[in-house]
Amino acid sequence: MNATTYTARAHTNIALIKYWGKKDEELILPMNNSLSLTLDRFYTETSVTFDEQLKDDLFLLDGSRENGNKVSKFLDIVRKKAEINIKAKVISQNHVPSTAGLASSASAYAALALAASKAAGLSLDKKELSRLARRGSGSACRSIYGGLVEWQKGTDDQTSFAYPLEMPNNFEITMVALVVNADYKKISSRAGMKRVVETSPYYPAWVQTAAKDLKNIKQAIVERDFETFGEIAEENAMKMHALNMSAHPHFNYLEPNSIKAMQIVEKLRLEGVSCYYTLDAGPNVKVICLKRDVKVIAGTLSDSFGQEKVLVAGPGPAAHLI
Ligand code: ADP
Ligand code: DP6
Ligand code: CO
Repeated sequence: MNATTYTARAHTNIALIKYWGKKDEELILPMNNSLSLTLDRFYTETSVTFDEQLKDDLFLLDGSRENGNKVSKFLDIVRKKAEINIKAKVISQNHVPSTAGLASSASAYAALALAASKAAGLSLDKKELSRLARRGSGSACRSIYGGLVEWQKGTDDQTSFAYPLEMPNNFEITMVALVVNADYKKISSRAGMKRVVETSPYYPAWVQTAAKDLKNIKQAIVERDFETFGEIAEENAMKMHALNMSAHPHFNYLEPNSIKAMQIVEKLRLEGVSCYYTLDAGPNVKVICLKRDVKVIAGTLSDSFGQEKVLVAGPGPAAHLI
């Protein structure tokens, strides 16, 4: 086999209805369907070369050698599919603050799935790519597609994958991200959701209401009802964070500045600006708004936290080779 290098770019996504809990940890099958927006501003670029000369897999992230156990485990799935037994060199660059809760694992494994499958000689369709990316990190199955995306939980490896939803005209959803803390987070998404499933007494209520939230937000998208869309996303995110606080031992991703930003958003809303917040497994706040309101929201957050902490993202494209 020729040692050909393939490079892929995949964008991160922000979940509006969160994936929080697995029913199968090995296959990464989720407890509930989720819905996200792929973002233009944050992405990962990953190159993969399978090379007979290599004795071990090699993983470089942002220029330095990293522990590649998770990456190697993922490459094993690709090797099995392609029926090859060759080690690979993986070189990745995150154009997103790593592990800051800006969902680097989503863009990381979507890019790796595309580059590695190509480099291994596979030619997967989008559904197969989404299923493959899911095995690396659940949220990555949504980053195979651009724009609004739903992950259908499915019941097994075959039926758990994402697909794109139609973005209505004149529904210019934009995300104003506030970087509250770009350090490594204390509890990974993987560990956090596992603890919640195992210990939160409220978990059954999450599964039930997530299904309702999804149905209602999809209706709001079709009706281009941005207020309902934002309200559901905000409420869904708060339910996820409430689960964390009800786990044993309980934990919390929010920091004082997260709360401060949330209060600023609530104040803007009282002043008539249509904006809502969501937070993933980290302290950073993402404000969901329409393009027309970006200036006032980004300006207000910049006044409190500094311009360099405020990043604006619009809908981004599907994962692609470069
Ligand atoms: P996040 O909220 O950033 O997705 P997670 O806890 O889900 O945080 O994922 C972080 C994991 O993703 C870490 O194990 C990190 O090593 C891995 N990761 C981040 N960027 C990449 C990359 N470009 N390629 C491979 N793995 C990556
Ligand atoms: C809060 O996809 O990072 O961002 O499947 O264990 O890799 P693993 O978890 P991951 O979890 C993402 C959690 C979330 C919500 C979401 O993106 O839907
Ligand atoms: Co992640």
